[in-house]
Amino acid sequence: FIMIVCAVLLLALSGCFGEVVDDFTHTFRQGNLHEYATLYDTANKIPVYSAYRFDGLMNCRRNESWFIEPQLENRMASPRMESENRSINYQNQAVNADYENSGFHRGHLAPVYHARTQSCSDATFTLTNAAPQNSRFNQGQWRVTEKKVATILTQICSGNSAYIVTGVVPDNNRHIGNRVSIPSHFWTAYCCLNNNRRVISSSGFLGENTNDRVQEIPVRVLDENLTALYHQKFQVFGGHC
Ligand SMILES: *[C@@H]1O[C@H](CO)[C@@H](O)[C@H](O)[C@H]1NC(C)=O
Ligand SMILES: *[C@@H]1O[C@H](CO)[C@@H](O)[C@H](O)[C@H]1NC(C)=O
Ligand SMILES: *[C@@H]1O[C@H](CO)[C@@H](O)[C@H](O)[C@H]1NC(C)=O
Repeated sequence: FIMIVCAVLLLALSGCFGEVVDDFTHTFRQGNLHEYATLYDTANKIPVYSAYRFDGLMNCRRNESWFIEPQLENRMASPRMESENRSINYQNQAVNADYENSGFHRGHLAPVYHARTQSCSDATFTLTNAAPQNSRFNQGQWRVTEKKVATILTQICSGNSAYIVTGVVPDNNRHIGNRVSIPSHFWTAYCCLNNNRRVISSSGFLGENTNDRVQEIPVRVLDENLTALYHQKFQVFGGHC
């Protein structure tokens, strides 16, 4: 994506950090994705996707304040997520004010529900990990999908390594306040690898940003759908799952 500016953002909370990267598939192949990574689209002011490991349900508390990433405005700024300063005009990311009174929820990509530790849960409350989501979808079919993925992985992947990538497709014609793209679709996929890094199981899910049913489809089909929707070749797990 030419439009995407990539920066490394360490959400330096002890034990958990998020990172904004340019090529998740590389990280994934190396098998060294430890926390979560977000590919952020500064033009549309929503992420493309967040990628993370799933280690089982931890029942983390929700931290209801949302933070911004100073480094997206200024590379010399702190790599830690911060509260937004309402007198600053943030050019490269969405802020809480964009969402207020918009009617849309700040929909998590890497969700609290899948967080590995409390600090990981806190680290998900950065607006770089969120996109405008239909409120009924957020609390309805998408929540059902997050639960379903967690249940499947708990059943079939314990003792192995579970990776999840969750993303959104920007709608170029729908924005909040002429700034933040409202996604047309949310998608997610998991891949379970054994200790020899062989694929045990994988699956994909794709839903419109409405509260309609989310389709479960093979990752290969999700890759085809996303290639059509993004208008460029896209493979969630680099074709490995
Ligand atoms: C919420 O996140 C902030 C910033 O990381 C942290 O200082 C605070 O303790 C968290 N609050 C809760 C209730 O977890
Ligand atoms: C917020 O930004 C303004 C303008 O840059 C600055 O003067 C002010 O000190 C900032 N406030 C905080 C709490 O950092
Ligand atoms: C995904 O692809 C399948 C098969 O190619 C197609 O039937 C389906 O309509 C697509 N879904 C979306 C949301 O584009």
